[in-house]
Amino acid sequence: MKVVLLGATGMVGGAALLECLDDDRVTGVLSISRRPCGMRHPKLAEALSDDLFHLEAARPALSDADACFFCLGVSAVGMTEAAYTRVTHDLTLSVARDLLAAGARPVFCYVSGAGTDSTASGRSMWARVKGRTENDLLALPFRAAYMLRPAFIQPLRGVRSKTPLYRGFYAALAPLSSVLPRLLPGLATTSVALGRALIRLAAEGYPRPIVESRDINRLGSEERRVA
Ligand SMILES: NC(=O)c1ccc[n+]([C@@H]2O[C@H](COP(=O)([O-])OP(=O)(O)OC[C@H]3O[C@@H](n4cnc5c(N)ncnc54)[C@H](OP(=O)(O)O)[C@@H]3O)[C@@H](O)[C@H]2O)c1
Repeated sequence: MKVVLLGATGMVGGAALLECLDDDRVTGVLSISRRPCGMRHPKLAEALSDDLFHLEAARPALSDADACFFCLGVSAVGMTEAAYTRVTHDLTLSVARDLLAAGARPVFCYVSGAGTDSTASGRSMWARVKGRTENDLLALPFRAAYMLRPAFIQPLRGVRSKTPLYRGFYAALAPLSSVLPRLLPGLATTSVALGRALIRLAAEGYPRPIVESRDINRLGSEERRVA
């Protein structure tokens, strides 16, 4: 399968990229980002753009996408609802529509977050906006669409969050982070399991569109990798 990847310069996207490069089911990765992801691999192609709202030029390369792993996002801390909505909702839907306009019908996997509000009308701003984003993605004519809602993600294989707040959080939790996914699978997963779960969702599908932490651990567990 050919994967279009957003967010490869970040922690979740970087983790997804590592698993894609190792997995024989993935024949190619097209990473779309503002700056190079710093990796080179025969399966990896990069399309760089200062403004991901305008991917018209990349459409020919999007047309044969079998899957899109959308791992791009920002923390809502310190952001107005308008600014957060522009990156979280508007940019995500813009890229999704560019894929469809290019003629692709991929499996679209969106990395959302635990606590997302599907009613899109609750009190928490980020949860409302992510809820609206999920709902609008699920209404688009993709082959299938999955909304992944991880909570805590233990960073493995050297991936690091670009967000200082997340890095501080991980540093504080470092002593605990290796046991959390085993102790609390409903609340914690690893970056490797998340990357593998994305591939498995695209390759095999899943009975539900909302994929919580426990599902991610089930989908991404080691013994299921070698199909
Ligand atoms: N990390 C976690 O523990 C965690 C847990 C649950 C959910 N999530 C969700 O997972 C997603 C990714 O999180 P992360 O931890 O990987 O974040 P991260 O390390 O901060 O990386 C964010 C990625 O998004 C890109 N990005 C942000 N704003 C952009 C914009 N305006 N235009 C183009 N690219 C932009 C960044 O590209 P640049 O390098 O160009 O800035 C980077 O590739 C987020 O939606 C987050 O809410 C994360």
